[in-house]
Amino acid sequence: MKGIVLAGGSGTRLHPITLAVSKQLLPVGDKPMIYYPLSVLMLAGVRDILVISTPTDLPQFQRLLGDGSHLGLRLGYREQPEPNGIPEAFLIGASHIGEEPVALVLGDNIFHGPAFYSVLADSRAALDGCVLFGHRVSDPRPYAVAEVDGDGALLSLEEKPARPRSNHAVTGLYLYDNTVVDIAKNLRPSARGELEITDVNRVYMSRGSARLVHLGRGFAWLDAGTPESLLQAGHYVCTLQERQGVRIACLEEIALRMGFITADACHRLGSRIAHSAYGRYVMTIAEEIAA
Ligand code: DAU
Repeated sequence: MKGIVLAGGSGTRLHPITLAVSKQLLPVGDKPMIYYPLSVLMLAGVRDILVISTPTDLPQFQRLLGDGSHLGLRLGYREQPEPNGIPEAFLIGASHIGEEPVALVLGDNIFHGPAFYSVLADSRAALDGCVLFGHRVSDPRPYAVAEVDGDGALLSLEEKPARPRSNHAVTGLYLYDNTVVDIAKNLRPSARGELEITDVNRVYMSRGSARLVHLGRGFAWLDAGTPESLLQAGHYVCTLQERQGVRIACLEEIALRMGFITADACHRLGSRIAHSAYGRYVMTIAEEIAA
C-alpha cells in the first residue's frame, strides 16, 4: 500500500499566522503538525509516502523530512499548484500509486487512541473498496457526515450539511483500492469549484464497497485549522505527554517499534537533537528497547 499526505492549501482560517508558513508545519505541542498524520501512515505499516504541498511550501517539508530513509521510509514530494480539492491528490500522485492501494491522510488531522495500530492493520487487511474512519463530534457541520444503520452500514454521506443527519464526522484518513485513481479522473468540481473527497466516497458507496470504521469514545480526533483548535490540539498533546511520560507521534519511536530502523539508528537520531526534550526522549526509548 502506498501513502499520501496532503499538506497544501492556504490555511486562510489561520491568517496571518499562515501568510508566511505552511499550516502543516506549525507546532502542535512539541512537533510540527505533519508529524501526526505521517505517524498514522507509519502505524498502518505504509512506508512509501508522497507528500503533496504548494510550490512555495514543499521545500520546507523536504528540509524537515528529507528522503525519509533515516526513518526507514521512502518519501517523495509533489507540488499542488492550486487547492483544487482533496481528490486531486490521486491525480498528482497517480504514478506514485501505480497499481497499489493507497492510504490518504490530510496534513492537519490528528488521531490518538488505544491500539490504533491494530485498528489500522485490521482495516488494511479488510480493504475491499474503501475504508473511512468516523468519529463523533458535537458539531459535524464543517465535515463530511455519515449516516449509518444499526449494524454500522453506511446509508448516506454528505459534505458539510447545513442539517446533519448524525454526529458521525468522516475524518481525514482514507484507505482506497487502486480504482480511486480512475474515480478521481472522472470527477467534476462541486458548486464551490473543488473536487470533493465525498464524491469519491459516494462512488464506493454506490458500488456497495464503502466501509466506515467507527473510532469510539477512547479516541481523540482533532483538526488544527483554526487558532482555537490549534491551541486545543497543542494542549491535548502536552497534557497527555507530560502526565504519561510518553510522546504522541514521535516518528523515530514509531519507526523503531515498527521495525523500520534499529535501536542504534534511533539513538543516533535522538542524539542529533539532544538539546531538546524530544531528542532526549528518542534516545531514552532507543536505550530501553536495546536493553
Ligand atoms: O478533516 C476532515 C474533513 O476534511 C472531512 O470531513 C471532509 O469531508 C473533507 O472535505 C475535509 O474538509 P475540510 O473543510 O477540512 O477540507 P479543507 O479544504 O480544509 O482541506 C483539508 C486539508 O487538506 C487542509 O489541511 C488543506 C489540505 N488541502 C485541501 C484542499 C482542498 C490541500 O492540500 N489541497 C486541496 O486542494
